[in-house]
Amino acid sequence: MIKTIEWTKDGIRMLDQRLLPGQETYLMLRSYDEVAEAIKKMVIRGAPAIGVAAAMGIALGASQSVGTSVADLEDDLLYICDEMGKTRPTAVNLFWAIERMRATFQRAKSKNDVEEVKKILVAEALAIFEEDLAANRAIGKHGGPLIPDNATVLTHCNAGALATAGDYGTALGVIRGARDAGKKIAVIADETRPFLQGLRLTAWELAKDDIPVTVITDNMAGHVMKSGKVDAVVVGADRIASNGDTANKIGTYMVAVLAREHNIPFYVAAPLTTLDMSLQSGEEIPIEERDEKEVTHIRDYQLAPDGVGVHNPAFDVTPNHLITAIITDKGVARPPYTESLPKLFAETNAAGG
Ligand code: MRU
Repeated sequence: MIKTIEWTKDGIRMLDQRLLPGQETYLMLRSYDEVAEAIKKMVIRGAPAIGVAAAMGIALGASQSVGTSVADLEDDLLYICDEMGKTRPTAVNLFWAIERMRATFQRAKSKNDVEEVKKILVAEALAIFEEDLAANRAIGKHGGPLIPDNATVLTHCNAGALATAGDYGTALGVIRGARDAGKKIAVIADETRPFLQGLRLTAWELAKDDIPVTVITDNMAGHVMKSGKVDAVVVGADRIASNGDTANKIGTYMVAVLAREHNIPFYVAAPLTTLDMSLQSGEEIPIEERDEKEVTHIRDYQLAPDGVGVHNPAFDVTPNHLITAIITDKGVARPPYTESLPKLFAETNAAGG
């Protein structure tokens, strides 16, 4: 199993995704601000993985608090939560995890025992980690049946083990679910400029898992679909508005438009923690703008002329009408999403989580 992130007695151990596939290097992060920096710099990335990292970072920071009262601990915790919230703006799992850690503290503080509250916060972060692993398995169970035997699935970015707590992933969880049900599946991975998550990460983890993978550059997707080589598209999500509009890695929208043109089903796979019921549409999703060097350079090598203007939005929003279904850990939502998503959400809350 690929270990994206791990809680250890010495700190939080993370696979440095910036160096893959060339180097498999693990970093040991020993303070919450190192964790926040790792999220910002994309040592760890992918919406669910960012949520898990934030929860663990908050637990680590709280457990290192030197405050002697629960009130001191609360001050530290709230500060750490604010810092975590400044790392990346689009993936809602980050804010979901921060809220859950805050709420856990609020419930635990009546114990009035600093050491006990710290233990509860660590246990909560570990629960978030375990729940994410289970959610991905459930996505695979619900989504696997949607993929026909002998299918070729196109995916964009990396929504696999590396983008989650580990193991299955979301979009790749659907592919693994189909594979584990005995189907023969091949994958086409878009390279995913500018950070190259498809080329570097999806190809790496699928090859490691013996799932046949072919890499294409992003501008080949239309040609490949027109040639009849794609049976389904499955992508992950960073934030899904209550009407089903979905923010995911830049380029996803283009793939969805192409899939519609070629009558190819376009599936989004994500845990319910990626659903933002407070937003009516994708218009309200904040889109992260990243460093222009990601576009002008490949690692440290400059490709663009000096001084050119650069725009580097890290995500785009695919409108709900282009999405065939949203595969979640709690079941598959179909259009109209303004009905199916609130229903799924309400059923899950009624069932206690
Ligand atoms: O910028 P990144 O690499 O964090 O973006 C990741 C994506 O867009 C993924 O497709 C998404 O988070 C789903 S991950 C299961």
